[in-house]
Amino acid sequence: LAGIDAAGTEAAPLAAAPSVKTKLTILYGTESGNAEALAGAAKRDAQKRGFAPRLLDMADADLATLKDTVNLLVIASTWGEGEPPQRAAPFMRALMADGAPTLDGVNFAVLALGDSSYAQFCETGKQIDARFEALGGVRIAERLDCDLDYETPAAGFIASLLEKLTPAADAGSVIHVDFHRAEAEPVGKTAPFAAEIAALHAITSSRSSSETLHLELDLTGSGIAYQPGDTLGIAPENDPALVGAVLRATGLLDDSAAHSALTRERDITTLSGKLIQDYAALTGDAALATLAADAEARGRFIAGRQPIDLFETYPHTLTTAQLTSLLRKLPPRYYSIASSQRLVGEAAHLAIAKVAYESEGRARLGVASGMIAERRKTGGSINVHVKANPHFRLPETNETPIVMIGAGTGIAPYRAFLQEREALGIAGKSWLIFGHRHFLHDFLYQLDIQDWLKSGVLGRLDLAFSRDQPEKRYVQHVLWNQRHDLRAQLDQGATLYLCGDAKAMARDVDATIVRILGKDDADRGQHELDALIAAGRYKKDVY
Ligand code: 2AM
Repeated sequence: LAGIDAAGTEAAPLAAAPSVKTKLTILYGTESGNAEALAGAAKRDAQKRGFAPRLLDMADADLATLKDTVNLLVIASTWGEGEPPQRAAPFMRALMADGAPTLDGVNFAVLALGDSSYAQFCETGKQIDARFEALGGVRIAERLDCDLDYETPAAGFIASLLEKLTPAADAGSVIHVDFHRAEAEPVGKTAPFAAEIAALHAITSSRSSSETLHLELDLTGSGIAYQPGDTLGIAPENDPALVGAVLRATGLLDDSAAHSALTRERDITTLSGKLIQDYAALTGDAALATLAADAEARGRFIAGRQPIDLFETYPHTLTTAQLTSLLRKLPPRYYSIASSQRLVGEAAHLAIAKVAYESEGRARLGVASGMIAERRKTGGSINVHVKANPHFRLPETNETPIVMIGAGTGIAPYRAFLQEREALGIAGKSWLIFGHRHFLHDFLYQLDIQDWLKSGVLGRLDLAFSRDQPEKRYVQHVLWNQRHDLRAQLDQGATLYLCGDAKAMARDVDATIVRILGKDDADRGQHELDALIAAGRYKKDVY
């Protein structure tokens, strides 16, 4: 937990007179909903403590009005390679632009969410923290950067910030608030449901270069409910072979406590700079200390490697407590649900791309996809919980046309959308643009899609198989070729969806849409894209 920086206390009054409620604006930028849920919890806590809090989504925030805020708590997620949440992107562009309005005297504190397996850890929070100060804001607490296991540190940060802002007259009354209320449902991240595997089979051909599995889970008795667009969290178990290798390298092969912790509780596949530094400090190894001290060398070592490579390159005998404290908590893996409960009832379907590759002479497996592909069978079980994805839902009215763009397993939520529309008996006004490698091997859910086309649930289908011809053909090439139809759909009020790879695909599709919307004017295209996002008419689920 970050300490609270006292420097701000003299620069500006932190609170209004005790008789007037202290104002607090909670500004959040959310992708999958974590920052939003925390902001909601912070608001409830602030209300209980007698503040006048308001919530502000960066998607709706006007930078010019922020200068009028007194106290500003920012909760910002970072997505993929240091990107802001997509709905917060216009706000971030305005904030970083030359001539951004000043924030003179605004008290602010930044809570950053991220994933330490990415090099640009908590980048959006870091940018906001530095920029708010540069614009004249007064930092009243040191920024806290949270990893995937953010719940407890984030709650602590918010509680101490609110205590600091509480007028002196009220400071004595400390209130305890349950921050986990949002997750206190019977089945949640901390109490998953053991779902039985009702079906598990490949939906790519045996000659596919990217094996994908269809998984059907039985949720009978769980009480789990989800909407099309929501995601399912899987609590995975690590590969026993890798667990054994880590235990061997650290001299803990016969330690059953270490075995059980590494199997279910600790992340043994993410190598971060922090892990290298902590391991160096713990062991006092001189060669490791050199590596730990050099950011560039650390980055080079991390690329393509995992903790096992670190432990084998610099072997030391550890205690169970030392090993487990070095490794971060094993985070759940989230998959877009590929079914609608209106059609499948107490079940959930997933499309799972098996991650398997070789690097530094070692075969590596995705934690959850490897477990499912190699160590689970029909009749077995998997621990799951639902995570709502409120910003990736079907339009409110069934008459709204939808354009669904997806590559690879990015097809999954559209199968849920189309099952939902099938169950509701809604035909037409839906356009699917799907891309993958080969028509013959990788046409995921081909039979479902053809049935929907025939019945009219799906109005139009365009395909982009990237490796069936000499030149790459991608979904954005379809979009560009069909740009007149796309514009016509948007003119008719269509909602646009994008699902799949965040790094290359989403960026290139965005650029194409900007080009289509702006014609020759890139600024205008970006402006129109931002307007679509702000209106909730361009929704992304990218990973
Ligand atoms: P490729 O692997 O042949 O390059 C799902 O992975 C599909 O997305 C594949 O057909 C893949 O093509 C494609 N893909 C890869 N990079 C992409 C990009 N930048 N834009 C769109 N599609 C991409």
